Amino acid sequence: MQRRTLKKTKLFLAVLTALLGATIAASAQGVCKKKEAGYFKLVMTAPAALLKSPGIESPVAPVLGDRSRGLQIAADPEKGACLSCHNIPPLASEPNHGNLGPSLEGVGARYTEAQLRQIIVNPQAVFPGTIMPAYYHTDAWTRVGAAYVGKPILKDQDVEDLVAFLKTMR
Ligand code: HEC
Repeated sequence: MQRRTLKKTKLFLAVLTALLGATIAASAQGVCKKKEAGYFKLVMTAPAALLKSPGIESPVAPVLGDRSRGLQIAADPEKGACLSCHNIPPLASEPNHGNLGPSLEGVGARYTEAQLRQIIVNPQAVFPGTIMPAYYHTDAWTRVGAAYVGKPILKDQDVEDLVAFLKTMR
């Protein structure tokens, strides 16, 4: 009889630990759940690591960013190709929004301009191991196409135009 009670207690403790672990893991990633239209939708919040990073304060191009050019770069598969991984609400008329990365809805409110610049220039600095490309970074490229050897994926002005666009997504 005593052994059975012990077994049950052990099982209860194991389940409790697993649940607690999952909750801690989810909150560490900044994931929270919001009930929407009868089901739970995953909503990304800023990971703590990035909130601590001041980002890149100085613009990488001399000319101020242009929001509408930024919007085009985000949609253009030959440039930013951001839509291949992200849902971008202001580009609702474009088909095929990706869901590999978080939705960019509200990023202008979640991050400062400097942090948004950092994410585009080199997201590895704030999201270690991320699959998002470093758009304005030339180190450690291996076997890239000839057109990209020693060159970043985007031009300096493209980076500033994207920042100008992302800032407005509040
Ligand atoms: C190959 C997929 C991929 C592409 C292409 C991509 N991203 Fe991302 N992006 C991600 C992932 C995944 C994350 C989440 C960070 C992580 O890895 O934890 C992310 C995160 C972000 C974030 C932070 C979002 C948040 O709420 O924390 C921003 C802003 C962002 N990306 C902007 C862009 C822009 C702008 C482009 C195009 C220039 C782009 N991304 C292209 C995969 C991608």
